[in-house]
Amino acid sequence: MEFLLLVCVFGLAVAAPADGPNAAYDTIVIGMGSAGTTAATELAQSGRKVLALEAQDRIGGRVHTLPFGDGLVELGAEWIHGNVSSRTYALATKHNIDTKLQPLMLDPYRSDGTKPDVAMVRELVDLDFTEEQPNPPEAVGTFVTKKFMEYITKNKPDLLKDQDFITEFLEFSNLLTNNLESSNDWNDVITGGSYEHLGGPQAISWHRHGYKAFFDIMLNKYNNGPGLPNLDIKLNTEVTRVVTPQHPNETVTVECKDGSSYTAKHAIVTVSLGVLKAKHTTLFSLPLPLEKQTAIEKVSMGVVGKVILSFEKAWWPKDVTLFAFIWKGDDKKNVPAEDYWTTRILGAHPPMGSSNTLTLWTSGEVAKQVEKLPEEIVKSKCVALLQRFMGDALKITVPVPTGFLRSTWYLNPYTRGSYSYDNLEAPRYPLARKWLSYPLLDSAGEPRVLFAGEATNERHFSTVHGASETGRREAERLLLMIRGDGNFNVKDFKL
Ligand SMILES: Cc1cc2nc3c(=O)[nH]c(=O)nc-3n(C[C@H](O)[C@H](O)[C@H](O)COP(=O)(O)OP(=O)(O)OC[C@H]3O[C@@H](n4cnc5c(N)ncnc54)[C@H](O)[C@@H]3O)c2cc1C
Ligand SMILES: *[C@@H]1O[C@H](CO)[C@@H](O)[C@H](O)[C@H]1NC(C)=O
Ligand SMILES: *[C@@H]1O[C@H](CO)[C@@H](O)[C@H](O)[C@H]1NC(C)=O
Repeated sequence: MEFLLLVCVFGLAVAAPADGPNAAYDTIVIGMGSAGTTAATELAQSGRKVLALEAQDRIGGRVHTLPFGDGLVELGAEWIHGNVSSRTYALATKHNIDTKLQPLMLDPYRSDGTKPDVAMVRELVDLDFTEEQPNPPEAVGTFVTKKFMEYITKNKPDLLKDQDFITEFLEFSNLLTNNLESSNDWNDVITGGSYEHLGGPQAISWHRHGYKAFFDIMLNKYNNGPGLPNLDIKLNTEVTRVVTPQHPNETVTVECKDGSSYTAKHAIVTVSLGVLKAKHTTLFSLPLPLEKQTAIEKVSMGVVGKVILSFEKAWWPKDVTLFAFIWKGDDKKNVPAEDYWTTRILGAHPPMGSSNTLTLWTSGEVAKQVEKLPEEIVKSKCVALLQRFMGDALKITVPVPTGFLRSTWYLNPYTRGSYSYDNLEAPRYPLARKWLSYPLLDSAGEPRVLFAGEATNERHFSTVHGASETGRREAERLLLMIRGDGNFNVKDFKL
């Protein structure tokens, strides 16, 4: 026994210097959203000793499943976007989770309680002009408006007489773009951005399983799994400073708001682009490389928000995925200035995790405002909106909600926004997302502080699967390096 123990202790003591600095952990992962949880669990499963530090009191980050209504709802990510080569979809299927498709089935209403021509609105919404990529790229709004006018002039000349409908339909299309991109206006978004869809259906729901299941699976907690022995997770632990090592013999030291500090050979930073924008000058012991600072400044972090109401039971038509709110110009003019935000709500969407809830979607500056307004105002104005657009047309009185929830992704100091998008400056900084992903190297050229997260994904940013891919990317970077199998090339990270 004693002999074995001695061998163990001795073995550890000599092993450490050979592997570099002597630290309690191989890797510290900062942030346990999709990227951090993927990195931490992949490393732990490969035998690395991992510490995960998460500022909030829960795992998931911008995925936040909550019990609500007669089931559950998602305050953050709602769908799996595409099922071909999707890390999220693959894990769900592997664990026999029956995901459900939720294709866009639109039911439009106007602000005077009338219904527009449903088939026509659906046809117009389905014209996805953004598939085309003008060269040089231009603002999405300008481009789509031009294409739209060409289309109706050619195919629906009668519609040209209804300038009010055209204006307000385009305004609805603007909101639709903003709710996809998390932008404030579709003229802030560039055509032909670098985002690539995964193949397959774009709206696949975890419904009553909740997006949370993705995290339980990764953490080996799904179906009462035992977890991962190599992974220590500390919640409610905000990291305030990462001390970047210069010399190869130094550890990475991570300091926390509660006064604790931890050391490891490597750290992976997965905080959102919003957090980096606000905190990068104090979060790192040394100024970040100029390219990374530029990328942090230039890539946009937008806001998408949700107001979720529950009711005694569903009162809306079945098999619709978006009750679209299309204003009339005169009605809009009569809305008092303090209620302007109500004119920029896309519509109402019945989420699939419950049968008696409706989500109203907001974006951009209005989403920020809705996070701050008193709850009673948001609630009563949202019910009034539902009455105005749907209640009157359906000839019902919208019942009093039984519950109210809203997202605060912008106010939340640990996200400071919803997700990143390609703005008008993106073509001038084609390497920006790559810059965001570059690790900080020590004097021997070894990556010591690494970066993952949605915004660092050049093709799949703004998604859960894309964030997960970056967590895997950084875990692999470390595993390949530690295994020393020659696949790791420091030069790859020079600009
Ligand atoms: C309303 C909304 C709807 C969306 N819809 C979809 C969708 O339908 N499909 C889809 O694929 N994607 C969707 N997304 C995007 C998706 O949620 C994100 O791209 C993804 O979850 C980001 O993961 P991440 O790991 O990069 O970042 P995050 O999830 O933000 O993880 C970062 C973690 O770091 C923590 N942190 C921050 N600062 C510190 C600190 N100082 N110390 C310690 N920890 C810290 C945070 O608390 C957080 O847990 C949506 C997002 C929102 C907000
Ligand atoms: C993706 O979904 C479609 C539609 O449900 C299905 O036909 C296809 O087989 C799925 N692909 C994968 C890889 O599971
Ligand atoms: C690391 O190396 C530097 C420079 O060679 C040296 O000054 C320092 O004492 C070393 N530190 C440790 C912890 O070995």
